[in-house]
Amino acid sequence: MSDPSSGSARSAALSDIILASARNVQAVLSGRSLSDSLADTPAALRAPAQAVSFHVMRQLGLARAIRAELVKRTPANPLFDALLLTALALLDAAVHFQNESTAGAPERRYTPIYAPHTVVDQAVTAAGEHRQLRPYKALLNGVLRTFLRERHSLLEHVRQQPEALHNHPRWWVQRLRRAYPAQWQSLLLAANIPGPMVLRVNQRRAQTAEVMQALAEAGINVVDAGHDALVLAQPKPVHDIPGFDEGWWSVQDLAAQQAARLLPLQSGMRVLDACAAPGGKSAHMLELADIALTALDADPQRLEKVALTLKRLGLDTQGRVDVRCADAADLTSWWDGTPFDAVLADVPCTASGVVRRHPDIRWLRREADIARTVTLQRTIASALWHTVKLGGHLLYATCSIFPEEGELQAAWFARHHPDAVRLPAPGQLLPLDDGTGLTHDGFFYALFAKQA
Ligand SMILES: C[S@@+](CC[C@H](N)C(=O)[O-])C[C@H]1O[C@@H](n2cnc3c(N)ncnc32)[C@H](O)[C@@H]1O
Repeated sequence: MSDPSSGSARSAALSDIILASARNVQAVLSGRSLSDSLADTPAALRAPAQAVSFHVMRQLGLARAIRAELVKRTPANPLFDALLLTALALLDAAVHFQNESTAGAPERRYTPIYAPHTVVDQAVTAAGEHRQLRPYKALLNGVLRTFLRERHSLLEHVRQQPEALHNHPRWWVQRLRRAYPAQWQSLLLAANIPGPMVLRVNQRRAQTAEVMQALAEAGINVVDAGHDALVLAQPKPVHDIPGFDEGWWSVQDLAAQQAARLLPLQSGMRVLDACAAPGGKSAHMLELADIALTALDADPQRLEKVALTLKRLGLDTQGRVDVRCADAADLTSWWDGTPFDAVLADVPCTASGVVRRHPDIRWLRREADIARTVTLQRTIASALWHTVKLGGHLLYATCSIFPEEGELQAAWFARHHPDAVRLPAPGQLLPLDDGTGLTHDGFFYALFAKQA
């Protein structure tokens, strides 16, 4: 059995890792993002707790369905409920990957696997060490042992439910099924396979060949995906890869790397990145052309990251960038009336295309969020259209795979803006292997030109 913990955390007790993970699961179930919650996890436990929490997010539909079978009522104590779900998700993996037929399964590479008896023992120890959880020790022990005894029949039964079978909310499954009748199952499976780490070489600081050589010398294997993109065989902390502090490269998925190249940027242009934080696409545009960029975002904390990113990459020079905190839709609060040659509208969305990197998203979203983001996206994109000069371009982008935020939105925009001409752009990018062996996140791009 492998131990997924790493580095200084290798010596952390599994009971501590399980308890820290349960706290993260509890946070997500109460509406907080997993990355925010992980930031509060003690540093020594963070890496293994992240591996376990990510696993639980990918198996939460199944774990909940099993819990519903084995415990009459949802436990009133939310931390105990999260601990039980965490232990069930780990236990299922423990038994599943013991099986010879799954020993070589690709998911095994990123699934935290411990021996079943260790999971039971350490989960019960975790409960025993926490005052609030102590009364539940016997219940936890009993439920986990019942699961081990009755696993086959239980799994056969609960996998009749779409949420347990696909590990996504039922409404999410139904929407993908309707939108992609031939691909919905592949999309749901792909959402549980972590995306690769991809670098975008900053051509202002380094050549792709130089970066590849430095990485090779450091024993890091990459695939050159073209257009300055390098795909790592194994993800690594950024500081373990040569050139981060020197600004040679940034981490950015292959789909997101398409944005800057879709806008016809030329030196001297006035460009707006209307929803810019944390600044990945702003930086890429500045790397590609000598533009004057306004980088806008409504979130002041996220906007701080834009400034840091541009500084690290050496792109904050010569007054080329105006970083501003404002609501992009409220033109009177930030626009001086001088039109832009190019506008990037990378609008807020459900982020349904990046679930493989953020497995908690599916559980945080509610179906009603789609209608809310659709309205917000229309408001922002329509306001921004006023700021585009005649002959200029607006690129509408979302990291979603729901058509309401993508193709339907682009069609709505074209219908409501008769001066908008839709130009060729990738449209809906699905997070599936396109035959090259490389995968990208789910994204949507529509490009419009303003005609007289
Ligand atoms: C998809 S993210 C942008 C990612 C960014 N373009 C990048 O590549 O790094 C959407 C951003 O829109 C911002 N946002 C949400 N509502 C906004 C509004 N009304 N005006 C400006 N920015 C907004 C959010 O704070 C968030 O940073």
